[in-house]
Amino acid sequence: MPTPTTHRWLRWPSEPDRKRMGYGADYNPEQWPRQTWDEDVRLMREAGVNVVSLAIFSWARIQPERDTWNFAWLDEVIDLLHANGIAVDLATATASPPPWLATEHPEILPVTADGSILSPGARQHWRPTSPVFREHALNLVTQMAERYKDHPAVCAWHISNELGCHNIYDYSDDAANAFRVWLTDRYGSIDALNDAWGTDFWSQRYTRFEQILPPRQAASHPNPTQQLDFKRFSSDALKGYLREERDILQRITPEIPITTNFMVMGETKGMDYADWAAEVDFVANDHYFVPSPQAQDELSFSANLTGNIAGGKPWFLMEHSTSAVNWQPVNTPRKPGTLRRDSLTHVAHGADAVCFFQWRQSKVGAEKFHSAMVPHAGEGSPIFRTVVDLGHELAALSDVVGTRRSTAPAAIVFDWDSWWASEQDSHPSDRLRYKQEALDWYSAFLALGIRADVVPTATDLTAYSLVVAPVLHTVPAALEARLEAYVHGGGHLVASYFSGITDENDHIWLGGYPGALADLLGIRIDEFGALLDGDDVHLDNGTTATLWADRVHPRVDGVEVLSRYTTNDHAGDAAITRRSVGPGSASYVGARLGASGIEPVLADLAARAVVVSELPTELRGAIEHVLRTGDDADYAFLINRTDSPVDITGIDGDTITGEHSILAPRSVTVRKLPRTTTS
Ligand code: GLA
Ligand code: GLA
Repeated sequence: MPTPTTHRWLRWPSEPDRKRMGYGADYNPEQWPRQTWDEDVRLMREAGVNVVSLAIFSWARIQPERDTWNFAWLDEVIDLLHANGIAVDLATATASPPPWLATEHPEILPVTADGSILSPGARQHWRPTSPVFREHALNLVTQMAERYKDHPAVCAWHISNELGCHNIYDYSDDAANAFRVWLTDRYGSIDALNDAWGTDFWSQRYTRFEQILPPRQAASHPNPTQQLDFKRFSSDALKGYLREERDILQRITPEIPITTNFMVMGETKGMDYADWAAEVDFVANDHYFVPSPQAQDELSFSANLTGNIAGGKPWFLMEHSTSAVNWQPVNTPRKPGTLRRDSLTHVAHGADAVCFFQWRQSKVGAEKFHSAMVPHAGEGSPIFRTVVDLGHELAALSDVVGTRRSTAPAAIVFDWDSWWASEQDSHPSDRLRYKQEALDWYSAFLALGIRADVVPTATDLTAYSLVVAPVLHTVPAALEARLEAYVHGGGHLVASYFSGITDENDHIWLGGYPGALADLLGIRIDEFGALLDGDDVHLDNGTTATLWADRVHPRVDGVEVLSRYTTNDHAGDAAITRRSVGPGSASYVGARLGASGIEPVLADLAARAVVVSELPTELRGAIEHVLRTGDDADYAFLINRTDSPVDITGIDGDTITGEHSILAPRSVTVRKLPRTTTS
């Protein structure tokens, strides 16, 4: 029989003397008959599951009518989990409002830019700014907190679920009202707003805040600064909602940490998580791989950024998948070995919990074809056996729990304002993809075997010898000053095309591009080098530009041209430049070169900055190398990026898990080393 335990040890982050890697899933027992729950906990124990997220989509069960509450089933599940040694990351259950609420109050439903109302019947059909929704949701949060505040199984609160998944942009009248309040706070006066938005353009000058709307479907391009502010506002509105739930939980259950699952993944860009992170007690993330040649790099990039959003501290992988998802056009199963590799890649970048969506694969509903820890085939399936093996392996990694990310020698700056602004309409090219450019630089670092952190803009850059700022489009004066100080302090900065162009209000920095960075880089660009689809320009270093090819003019002494174009009207013009500034430097890469084109350019720039790979030459590119650092030891993760075996004989350290000498295709080994790094 299970031994009852208390779970204060798993309150997050784990207490140092009871260190254990979290392992589990979203658990949706309300979809199953009672007898299945007993089988669930038996299999959870077999797999080493020690934490589940519960009640995420349970509002309609808990409160089936306005004045009817039904907690008995949830009490029973929590007690059952507790008796089996499984802690609960308890959701506030507010993610999907029940039918009675949407029927009685259709004014909670989100409205799209063209005025369509989103109906109930799926999930997340609520306006982030709806006072009516907030009243009912916050009442539910209060009921949940009061009921479970003393339950020893509850290790954390899980606020809502993936805030902003499906409902980040709402153009309703509630949103319009809240947007006006947000703008009044930001600008103070309508004149200041008119200046910031440049409203003399197209006769948009406002005389009262009441005239302002969200950027709804219009006859042509809505005002760009209005669009940018609406993105900032929408992120802030959901952050404000997160804080309202959190404040209730902190008041009633001050000892229980709170989190919410971020979506630092793919093209999920509406939520500025770098700005949200301070609101939670620990960062949690969901990540789903989307098949592509760069999928493994993208996973590493997201885990890396999540770890740095968490300030280097451990974080919680709240969801990923054991195999196929259901929401791609085509949903392929995982390749062998990648479930383990992906899980350990997240751990390498600081995850102290590895959880999945979901525990048991649904037999009905929109996610019935989404993989789970227990698939339709049941416990005899290869997926469940892999899940059990992974549970055992994670248990052996308890020494890693609580250790921090080690700071890398290089960094890539990731900037939400630039992401939002650079991809707006009416630009030189609508083909530009901010995250793709950042990811391409990251892939080049991986190919060269150089560790690099992906860091939010506010991060102190002085720890890094080399900083890459891909498409750093939005550069307020304060950021310009920071970058100047970084370079003058001996740092090596690399900026790519379409950087330095606008200030925080999306006004162009005049005097020639790249605007705010033109002096520091010592260059001038007169016209942007957007390229048509199918067009390309060759460079004398053997690489090829597509999408973008700026013709760069050095304008001060000491600017070295590293590469020139050789074809088209561009022939002879500079493409890549480097200006030495004392012991530091400022380089500009004016063309989109893609990951393989960036690689030789980065190799050169890194060598000049004396940033080198820590791996032997023959392992560079084949192995992703990540370090975590504890009080007295470092932990090196060696991740085989390839589908071939890699000989790692001669790499130092005691093997905690994985191979000693020949790393199997897609495998990972973890080594314990004497501490050498700083965190
Ligand atoms: C999101 C949600 C889960 C589930 C998964 C499916 O991450 O949080 O509820 O829908 O996607 O991939
Ligand atoms: C949306 C998100 C995906 C995933 C699915 C799950 O489509 O963009 O990342 O979370 O929902 O249903």
